[in-house]
Order: sequence, then C-alpha cells, then structure tokens
Amino acid sequence: MLQNNLNILFVGDIVGALGRRTVAEFLSGTKKQYNIDFTIANGENSAHGYSITEKIYNELLDMGVDAITMGNHTWEKKEILSKISNLDRMVRPANYPPGAPGRDHLLVEVSGIKVGIVNLLGRVFMQCMDCPFQAAEKLINKLKDQTKIIIVDIHAEATSEKNAMGFFLDGRVSAVVGTHTHVMTADDRILPNGTGFISDIGMVGALDSIIGMNKGQIIKRFVTQMPEKFEPTEVGQGLFNAVVLKIDPVSGKTLEITKIIKKTEPRL
Ligand SMILES: [Fe+2]
Ligand SMILES: [Fe+2]
Repeated sequence: MLQNNLNILFVGDIVGALGRRTVAEFLSGTKKQYNIDFTIANGENSAHGYSITEKIYNELLDMGVDAITMGNHTWEKKEILSKISNLDRMVRPANYPPGAPGRDHLLVEVSGIKVGIVNLLGRVFMQCMDCPFQAAEKLINKLKDQTKIIIVDIHAEATSEKNAMGFFLDGRVSAVVGTHTHVMTADDRILPNGTGFISDIGMVGALDSIIGMNKGQIIKRFVTQMPEKFEPTEVGQGLFNAVVLKIDPVSGKTLEITKIIKKTEPRL
C-alpha cells in the first residue's frame, strides 16, 4: 500500500496542433517538477479544435497523458463513434442519453491505487443533456466501493453550475475540476469537506487567440452575426494551463491544489 500522497496533474482543454505541441513542450518537465503519479487531460478540442482522432489519442498517451476526458465536442470527428469503445483510457461525458458509445467512467490503477474518473456536461447555456447531478450521484455510488480517489471533470459554461457540482460532491470525491471555457479561473480551493475545486482549469493552446481560435473569425461572427467557421490558431506562443492535485490516498481528500501556467517562447 502506497503511503505517499498521490499527485495528479489535470491538463485543461488541448486545442489543435499548437496545443498538442505545447503539451509536448511542457508535460514531461511539469511531471518531474511536481512528482506526478498520474496525468489526465481534456482532449475534446485536440483534433483541429473539434473532438479527437485515434491517432491523436495515441499521440497524447505517448507524450505521457494517462487518461483523456472529453466534452461537448466529443463526437465531431466521425471516426470516434466507431473507435471510442476500443480507446480504454478515454472517458466521455456520462450524462449523454442512454445508448451513447464509449465509457461513462474510468477506473485506472496507478502505483497500486485505483483512480476513478468521471466526465460530466453542464446544461446551462449548453446543449440539452440528462441531469449531470443525477449522473454523478449514480457513478459515485458505483465507484465509492472500489476507490476513495475519484476525479470529476465538469465540462460546463456556467461557473454557478460548476460551483454547485463542487459542493454537491464535496467530501464524496477527491476533486471537481471544470473545463470548457478555456480560461483559467482564480477560485482554486479545497472545499470544506476535502474536495479540491476549480471552476475552470483553462486550456493548452494559442495565447494570441480567442479561447484557442483565430481572433478574426470570432470577432467577425460577433460583429456581423453571420455564420463563420472557427479554426484553431496554430502559430505564436502556446499557453499551458493545468492543476496539480495533491491527494491523501487513505482518505481520498485533496490536500493541495496548485495552478500551473506556462507559456512557450514565441514561434514554437
Ligand atoms: Fe473545450
Ligand atoms: Fe467544450
């Protein structure tokens, strides 16, 4: 039985090729720096801004990511529909209506300790989904007999919904971390009953962009209200946002949450 604390790195939404190059630039150094035992990353934007492919899934695992969570862009690369059931380190949001392919939770063994991972989609200002709170309740009841270490990625727009999920699960899971907005929030903390929390981890993508996407296209859409294609920005500095969760493996509680913000040199 491992007695040391478990250090889990959770990397925010990886956006496009520049995001992937930025992960390659910082991941192994960050893992050494914080003595990381296990790495989770959100991969919903890793294939040119939308979803993921099997090739990119393998690329991220080869870089040192151990598990991948997804989000509202899960299905936008059609190949994922047929391949997701073979990708055993990928978890998709649990609150899709019944029948969605893929895993609604993961249970992975790390240094002799089992880590449970749950991914949920919010419903405020987002596509209609089944209730993320009820989905969480169901999966946590299932996982709690198998492990004390449970990490929840609440992929949602509204900070209030993510805050609510944090307090709803406080003391029942190790951490509730938010993804989706691509902007790191300053509310990282330990909730009263020992659950680590942050509303949003942020992203790994182009610094000189609007949430990882080309500025001109997004500004044009806002200004004209006409349809406009959004593409990830693939040049310039890369921003690397992540959090480290230091967890007591016996109680499953988070002892410390640390934000990581790194930037590549210009023109990586
Ligand atoms: Fe995203
Ligand atoms: Fe998203």
